[in-house]
Amino acid sequence: MASADDLVPDRKNRNQTIFQKIKHKLPQILSSILAANGAFVFGTNIGWSSQSYRYLVQKKEYPFSVSKEQFSWISSVLALGALLGGLLGGPIVNGFGRKGTILLTVLPFLFGWFLIIFAVRVYMFYAGRVVLGVCCGIFTVAVPIYIGEISEKDIRGSLGGLFQLLIVLGIAFAYGIGSVANVMTTSIVLLTVPLAFLIPSFFMPETPTYLVSAGRTEKARASLRYLYGEDCDEEGYLDELVANVQENKHITTLSVWKELDKFVVLYALCISLGLQFFQQLSGINVIIFYSEDLFAKSSSSISSNLAAALVSIIQIIATALALSTVDRTGRKVLLIVSAIIMTICTSLLGVYFYLQKHDKDTFKGIPQSVPILLVSIYIAAFSFGLGPVPWILLGELFTPASKGLACGMSVSFNWLLTFIVTKTYVNIEDWMGIAATFWLFAGLTALGAIFFAVIVVETKELTLKEVLEKLEKRKDRLRKIFCMRTS
Ligand code: GLC
Repeated sequence: MASADDLVPDRKNRNQTIFQKIKHKLPQILSSILAANGAFVFGTNIGWSSQSYRYLVQKKEYPFSVSKEQFSWISSVLALGALLGGLLGGPIVNGFGRKGTILLTVLPFLFGWFLIIFAVRVYMFYAGRVVLGVCCGIFTVAVPIYIGEISEKDIRGSLGGLFQLLIVLGIAFAYGIGSVANVMTTSIVLLTVPLAFLIPSFFMPETPTYLVSAGRTEKARASLRYLYGEDCDEEGYLDELVANVQENKHITTLSVWKELDKFVVLYALCISLGLQFFQQLSGINVIIFYSEDLFAKSSSSISSNLAAALVSIIQIIATALALSTVDRTGRKVLLIVSAIIMTICTSLLGVYFYLQKHDKDTFKGIPQSVPILLVSIYIAAFSFGLGPVPWILLGELFTPASKGLACGMSVSFNWLLTFIVTKTYVNIEDWMGIAATFWLFAGLTALGAIFFAVIVVETKELTLKEVLEKLEKRKDRLRKIFCMRTS
């Protein structure tokens, strides 16, 4: 069961000043920021697509032409690559370590960008985006595991949420560069991002959990001292970690699938997959990828750069707000409030588009700024709940033995849904109409609120051991409900 929160003495009981507390936590904070830079790199890959559309399809500035259909593949194959990367991520983090994986992933990243920068045919774009996607998928597994393993329970939520914050900062960075430079220059600048992040990342420690499992006890000792200070109960920690490794020694890459037979693992996986499902089916990436088109359809006159800037600024502020509150308010309450607000916004957007088509008189009385306002509130609500919390819980719910596999499955599921939603949105909208499409998102997000209230367990301030006990209790509850139904 070893993870930082089980092992670090509760410093809250000591009479520490706020500065002493920050000083104590600083190595964990710095290491988490360095790891979360992987999320920044991932964000730049999402942001790249929306800005390059103008240069590749509309202005045809590349040595070869790219059609609208080809561009939609260039955008979406990233998610397919990431799906594969998510599945590979599990065995890779267990084999090369968490830090090792984050560092190693930089190399194929550079290769992906080279394919794009030197592309002479469109298929090189596809190949480059798949490679970049695979790297994004691997990062999405390694970074939350890294942060979950090194952070103490009272700051684990905030540090876990850094993952989402760095994604949105990465998206904003790519938007910013893309709005002033052409696609080639943007790609070259974005190529330097993983390189710039490689050097400082050498200085972050590997997680003690991984080091002990790899038999490198001395290194684990040094990592513990660096992360939690000289006064930490190092020997006690190491004993727990070693006991944990002994307990899971028999588990091989193949038999790890057997872990899924355990109720706690299955239940945790059900929570994690459910969170990814409702995150993606809320329509967030439709709003992000098609914001310009949406505003144009809603007759709001807002330029593409302004739309992108608005989306980015709101996301950054609201995500930062979530990080500062998640360890006090808890994960569940943020999820539920976020889902309720998003449901209201998408329902009203549906009504707006319905009136636009079917009731022109009433529609005339509605200010044109309404869609912009609704989209802004929707994005803010997503950013303080449904955006960061699935990533935070990814590092908090799983037993060490099941972590690689379960996180990989959850991450791949997220990317599969990103692919399906962004690729089929245009067809669904043609078929059902834009109003009904938004009502569909609203209905699914409302279901999500129920799922968060009933199925998700609160992990705030709990050690992994306590989280697993809580999950185990659900078994009794389910058994009772089931018996009541059958009797
Ligand atoms: C979350 C989603 C991702 C989305 C991003 C937007 O990280 O998983 O699909 O693009 O939020 O901020």
